[in-house]
Parts: sequence; structure tokens; C-alpha cells
Amino acid sequence: MSKKTIKDIDLKGKKVLVRCDFNVPMDENQNITDNTRIVAAIPTIKYLLENNCKVVLCSHLGRPKGEVKKEFSLKPVAKELSILLNKEVIMAEDVIGEDAKAKAENLKNGDILLLENLRFHREETDNDPEFAKELASFGEIFVNDAFGTAHRAHASTEGVTKYLPAVSGFLIEKELKFLGEAITNPERPFMAILGGKKVSDKIGVIENLIEKVDTLLIGGAMAYTFFKAMGYEVGNSICELDKLDLAKEIMEKAKEKNVKFMLPVDTKVGKEFDENTESKTVLSSEIPAGWEGFDIGPETIKLYSEELKKAKTIVWNGPLGLFEFEQFATGTNSIAKILSEIDAVKIIGGGDSAAAVEKSGLADKFTHISTGGGASLEFLEGKKLPGIEALQDK
Ligand code: 3PG
Repeated sequence: MSKKTIKDIDLKGKKVLVRCDFNVPMDENQNITDNTRIVAAIPTIKYLLENNCKVVLCSHLGRPKGEVKKEFSLKPVAKELSILLNKEVIMAEDVIGEDAKAKAENLKNGDILLLENLRFHREETDNDPEFAKELASFGEIFVNDAFGTAHRAHASTEGVTKYLPAVSGFLIEKELKFLGEAITNPERPFMAILGGKKVSDKIGVIENLIEKVDTLLIGGAMAYTFFKAMGYEVGNSICELDKLDLAKEIMEKAKEKNVKFMLPVDTKVGKEFDENTESKTVLSSEIPAGWEGFDIGPETIKLYSEELKKAKTIVWNGPLGLFEFEQFATGTNSIAKILSEIDAVKIIGGGDSAAAVEKSGLADKFTHISTGGGASLEFLEGKKLPGIEALQDK
């Protein structure tokens, strides 16, 4: 069932509490290194300002585990927001303390206040009802726009909805539209590219998508578990020996469902886990002893490209190699480049694959790049997200 959004509720001139996901990466000097999630929150904030609301924003940053720690302060986010909005963003010194309350009390219509990091209170992740009630006292309406945190049942995502009318912002609406439509009503052929380290991390996604896709293309270190299950030697490659039966079952299931299941035919291997290690390309069935698989090879890139060119909908989750090291980023970057030239609905399911595409400079060539890591993974697994379930139905 679809959820109400800020367009479905009268919020003119009201005090609105907005949960955002401002959990952005920062360097050791608290400089924001990627502001994507802050930029993604702007349309909702602007809409509230246009409607003359008093806007109270809240978010977590990192995992300070209930302690007030300077390095987890949201102050840099307030600064970045005020640059992006070209408007003052008032920063509270605490979350539900005297300073936040006094500043909230003094807000005029069209003002914005940002509360300090919600996770300075353990009650946030404990979904403590009293803490949720205190948070709720900052608004007459609650707007959840934190897609990246929608898989957490925390006080600011779930608890607070028990005390206020709760609707989604534009970011959550957009994420549900693109991720949801790709999965439930894809234009075919529908293909999924799945990478990442472990079969065990992606098993939920594989099991859900195998019921829906026409082709599944596998990359990343999880391929080596499949190779081992097929009887290949994998040298020093990452391999989950306790998941070999599972890998066999997945391949059987793909056959049963008539899903084309593609594994890399060649693999770029390295001597050791080092940026400048000696490397070479070998057949995936012939990974030599003492070598470790780090990327898909050129023949695989060619085969995957030919297949992907036939797709009308593509979902990609997980890098195809060790993209943090330049010499093993070729697979991930090449597939990003090929996808950028294909005319299809192209969705990136967040996390490392989103980071890889952003890094490649091709982000604007994709239909949608999810701002959720864990949240989009759980969504692709077909799970219900508590932060979204708790919102009012249309
Ligand atoms: C994320 O970055 O995936 C979200 O902000 C959630 O953060 P968490 O995993 O610490 O709950």
C-alpha cells in the first residue's frame, strides 16, 4: 500500500519534525567528503519552507552509542545545509535538552533548526517511548525522509510515529517509486548485477531476485564461492566453504526458474592484498595456487556488456571487484561505463556500488542511485522497512 507524503497533508504554517539521514562520510577534521545525502534532503526541506513551516530537522551520524562525542556532532551538516539552502540553519547544542527546546520555542515560520546527533542518547536506538515522545514534542507533524535509516526501528523512525501524524518526504517517495517499481513491475528483460564479498551477505537479495529476473550476473568475491562449488580451485581467493551447498542450491534454483545465471569466465588475480601487487588475468576455472581473485576479467566484461545491452531494467548492487585499488577497479568501472550508455531503467542499490558509480563520474547517467546502503539491501531482499511501515497509508 502506498504511503502518504507531505503533499497529502495540510502542513501550512505548522511546526514539522523531519527525520533525515545525514549520516555522511567525513574526514578526520570533520570535513564532509560526500554530501549526496544532504543534497537528497533538500527538496523536502524547500517544500516545507515554501509552505511557511517551522522546520525541525533531526538525524543520526555514525554510531556514538549513547555518548556525546565531538567527532559525531552534526554541526558540519548544519553548515553544509545552510550553504546548499542559502539560508541560516540554527544548530542546537543538544537533542532534547534545554538548548534545543529553547531554540525550537523561538522558531519563526520559515526558520530551520537542526537538533544534535540523535544517537547521543542510547534511547534513540533502543526505541524508548519516552524519548520518542520528547522528540515528537518538537512538531505537530512528523515527516520521515531518512530512507537510509528506514530499516531501523528507532525512536526517531518508528517510535515517534505513535505520537504524531506521520508521512514521508520526497526522498522516501522517490526511493520507493524507483526501487519498488523496478522489482514489482519491471520492463523486461529484467537483469540484476550482484557483487560484493560474500554470498552470505547477498543471499536474501539473490533469493528474492531469482524469482523475478531474467538474468543474474555475478561479480565480486562472492563469485569464488560459486567457483569452488563448481569444483574449481580458487587459490587464496575469499571463499565461504560453509556456503558451498547454498551456492549449488542457488545455481539449481536459477536453472529451475529459467534464469540465466552468469559467472565471470575470466578473473584478474593478484599475488597479495596490496594496491601495487603483481597481477594477471586467468580463466576462472584456473585460478593458480598462491594467487587471489580481485576483479572480473576482460572477456567477462565483454560477455556481461553484450547481455546487459538487451536489458530494459537493470538493478545493480555490489562492486564487481576490489574497486578501492585502481588496478582492480576495471570491472566495476567498465560495467558502470557500459550501463551509462545503455537505454534502460538503471537502478543502483546503494552502498559500495553507489560509491563506485559516484567515483566514476557517471552518476547522472543512471535512473536512480539509492541513498540507502543497508536499507536498500533489505528492500531488495523483499523485507518490510519499519520506518516506512509506520507511516500513514494513503
Ligand atoms: C547507513 O549509513 O546505512 C544509515 O545511515 C544507517 O546507519 P546505521 O547502519 O549505523 O544504522
